[in-house]
Amino acid sequence: MHIYIHIPFCTSKCPYCAFGSHTDKFNLVKKYFQALHFEIKDFLEKNSGEISTLFIGGGTPSSVNSHFYAEIFNLLKPHFSSQYEATTEANPNSATLAWLEAIREFGINRVSFGAQSFNEQKLKFLGRNHSAKDTFNAVKNAKIAGFDNINIDLIYSTKFDTKAMLEFELENIAKLSVPHISAYSLTLEENTPFSGKKSYKKDSIRLDEFLFSHLLELGFNQYEISNFSKNSFLCKHNLAYWEQKNYAGFGAYAVGFKDCARFYSPKSVEAYIKNPLLKTRESIDKNALRFEHIFLGARCKIGINAKFLNQNELKNAQTLAQNGKLKLENSIFYNPNFALADEIALFITSQI
Ligand SMILES: C[S@@+](CC[C@H](N)C(=O)[O-])C[C@H]1O[C@@H](n2cnc3c(N)ncnc32)[C@H](O)[C@@H]1O
Ligand code: SF4
Repeated sequence: MHIYIHIPFCTSKCPYCAFGSHTDKFNLVKKYFQALHFEIKDFLEKNSGEISTLFIGGGTPSSVNSHFYAEIFNLLKPHFSSQYEATTEANPNSATLAWLEAIREFGINRVSFGAQSFNEQKLKFLGRNHSAKDTFNAVKNAKIAGFDNINIDLIYSTKFDTKAMLEFELENIAKLSVPHISAYSLTLEENTPFSGKKSYKKDSIRLDEFLFSHLLELGFNQYEISNFSKNSFLCKHNLAYWEQKNYAGFGAYAVGFKDCARFYSPKSVEAYIKNPLLKTRESIDKNALRFEHIFLGARCKIGINAKFLNQNELKNAQTLAQNGKLKLENSIFYNPNFALADEIALFITSQI
């Protein structure tokens, strides 16, 4: 089983972020965790099987005192598989050594810090309320707490990103000595203060390729357009999403997926607390899932399975393979250049 838990609290709201999170609802934390406990207990009573991956995301999981998590882990821990991966997101300024030690003790074995940048001007532009020094401190504390599986989130393609800026980010990444990087191209999300601010973003495939190739030089293999890992530290939870496996989503704003349907929790903390089991079901037709497989497959090392392609798509994929843009192995088309993922998926799905 794959499980996602959403924590909708943050100590400040970043102007680019469209995730479900609030800075003024900490008074509801206790009730929220009671509702989460209720929902998870109900799920575990109705579903058997081991939990192979768990992801606690947000929002900012580290903005909530660790003791609130204890009872949830009492429920979950007995179901962890022997090789389970349990990740929590955390912000560099709220993940204290005590918090990290406590959640490690509960069973979390992977931590993902939202560093975003090491440049103070870029951090300020992104509205972050932490410094690069806080990120170094948080990673040091995570290692002291016993974490070896550590991820750093970065944001690039902002107006500040040049070769020199990316070199600076890469120098700091090298110093941190962590095995995983998630580097996201800035998205100007609707209904955020960054919405429509085209001048805030700089799109350049040349800069993207510069970042990807230099991460490779540091030993990070790109296994998805935004994800890079050393050795075997790939994020198993994300791989499950990209393989379109079933997963359960708990908490306000959470989404789950099961057998061709998505299940949406209430998009309000209060509504979720009132009825933690309420879900809106959206069925997804097989064709939409097939399309999703093509777009996801072009973006990651899972590739695009020929058996999901219709005649026209297969012909287009074969054309790309003949031109060296895709590699065909055992009936799976692999994209060797994730910077071109969207163009490749669009070409495969086009009527030409
Ligand atoms: C759920 S968010 C936040 C985790 C944590 N609260 C934090 O900010 O560090 C996960 C990651 O998504 C990325 N992200 C969020 N909004 C983004 C946007 N508009 N464009 C690009 N990346 C974004 C950030 O790198 C962030 O760390
Ligand atoms: S990026 Fe993270 S800290 Fe900032 S508002 Fe979004 S969830 Fe909260």
